[in-house]
Amino acid sequence: MSSLSPWVMPDLLSNPHCRYRMWRLSESMPFLVRNADGDELLFIHEGGGEFFCDYGHLTLKEGDYVVIPRGTMWRIEPTAPLFILMIEATEDSYQLPDKGLVGNHAIFDPAALDVPAIDECFLAQQDENPWSLQVKRHDQVSVITWPFNPLDAQGWHGDLCVVRLNWRDIRPLMSHRYHLPPSAHSTFVASRFVICTFVPRPIESDPGALRVPFYHSNDDFDEVLFYHAGDFFSRDNIERGMVTFHPAGFTHGPHPKAFAAGQAHAKTFTDEVAVMLDTRDALGVGQICEGIEDPHYVSSWQRPDGTIGK
Ligand SMILES: [Fe+2]
Repeated sequence: MSSLSPWVMPDLLSNPHCRYRMWRLSESMPFLVRNADGDELLFIHEGGGEFFCDYGHLTLKEGDYVVIPRGTMWRIEPTAPLFILMIEATEDSYQLPDKGLVGNHAIFDPAALDVPAIDECFLAQQDENPWSLQVKRHDQVSVITWPFNPLDAQGWHGDLCVVRLNWRDIRPLMSHRYHLPPSAHSTFVASRFVICTFVPRPIESDPGALRVPFYHSNDDFDEVLFYHAGDFFSRDNIERGMVTFHPAGFTHGPHPKAFAAGQAHAKTFTDEVAVMLDTRDALGVGQICEGIEDPHYVSSWQRPDGTIGK
């Protein structure tokens, strides 16, 4: 769906801690927005644009994550039509995961987190024209107006700000002998869910290693995958822009062709880029899914003769 405001986008999936939405934006937003319900995470699936906020200016490009702290005022001027995945941490904030044994510089160096700049582009958009702000609080939108552009900062100081990370700056952990669990790819965490990023990496090379995920029923988390780019190594018939949803308790794993390719060592490298949301609490399915869900997905592990297996 397309709209100038992210706040009218319907939920694909949601629970009290998380909202998962898609947003297409092809024209400049003529107003500012602020999410007072929680931090917002944008993932730029397609397109690009200029992002303006309290902290300055960022140029958005495909593959960027943008973490927007709760209460930030922002707007976007697209330079190419945007297709954005939005994940709200409702009444919560995003943190970086515990890096544990591998240390602070693993997966991505904190220095790769980019912040907005008070640059010429930002200063040039400051004007004395009336601007309005759409504030979302408790999912109700209110409008505040100023007789000038309130994105008028000349500088800022502190450790809370918008941050951007592109998936290309992620250096994935891998082992040639051990298929690492998805949690090794955690990128951002909130209290009741995690965001993981699957990026290109070599596939396990040891003859005894598992090369595709084991079959599992994910008993502790609902699992949502957004396919951004590449050939997803454990799924058949999945295209970019698709979302899969595997609720806790529903057994799933590699599709037949992907399993066979793993057995045959057919691929030595995976070029997939995918964003995973794992939620500790059950996700509800939004009404919008009724018109866009693939009802045959649940049968996609079956052979043409209806049998299931490797
Ligand atoms: Fe899974």
